[in-house]
Amino acid sequence: MIDFHSHILPGIDDGARDLAEALAIARAHVADGTRCVVATPHIYPGVFDNTPATIAAAHATLVAAIADEGIALEIQWAAEVRAGADVIDMLAQGTLPFLGQDGPWRHLLLELPDHQIPVGTDKLVAMLMRQHVKPVIAHPERNKGVMADVQKIKPLVDLGCLLQVTAGSVLGEFGSRAQHTAEQLIDQGWVHALASDAHRTTTRAPKIKPARTWLLARYGNTVADALTLSGPARICQPLVGQSGMAA
Ligand SMILES: [Fe+2]
Repeated sequence: MIDFHSHILPGIDDGARDLAEALAIARAHVADGTRCVVATPHIYPGVFDNTPATIAAAHATLVAAIADEGIALEIQWAAEVRAGADVIDMLAQGTLPFLGQDGPWRHLLLELPDHQIPVGTDKLVAMLMRQHVKPVIAHPERNKGVMADVQKIKPLVDLGCLLQVTAGSVLGEFGSRAQHTAEQLIDQGWVHALASDAHRTTTRAPKIKPARTWLLARYGNTVADALTLSGPARICQPLVGQSGMAA
């Protein structure tokens, strides 16, 4: 499996605090059945001021350590980018990291605030889509506005956004409301992929495998495969496919 949302890179956001913890998370990803992780540290101006340079440096450090340790895990990198006007600036400057590409569409892991969908998000998304950037909205089931009414995310779905639900959400780790919201979003057919959003090995550990088991029981093979295999592979091509590790 491919996991395209993980804060595994050491010391550059609120994920792995050092290399030892990053290696522990890498082992947890392997135990979770993942063969390729796309590391997605936050880019959140004023909070986590990451750039392609800071991310690539942390990535290189981790890749070398994973090789030294003999851990069978491929690591690529992109970012989880906070929605805001800076996104357009980064796109213009060529500093926006993408998860992958599908035809002309470049996939951007886009984070909304937890409390609401800000006014103007639809305009930001429309601007991105005009430039062939397709947002993959990170964990909409944890947004309080969407929890109150899943239809609030529909305008972004209608614009072409893909939705990524967090594995822990379907397992109830973010509460019953997030779990129920994840179910509602999947029921609507709006969710394209599950990812772990891993930050630690204790709380917020990688849990795609148990989430896949939950999906199989609740929805059956077709949905479980789409959300854990074909969906992530499509979102991450050719970033992952280039190295022959897809699916
Ligand atoms: Fe995240």
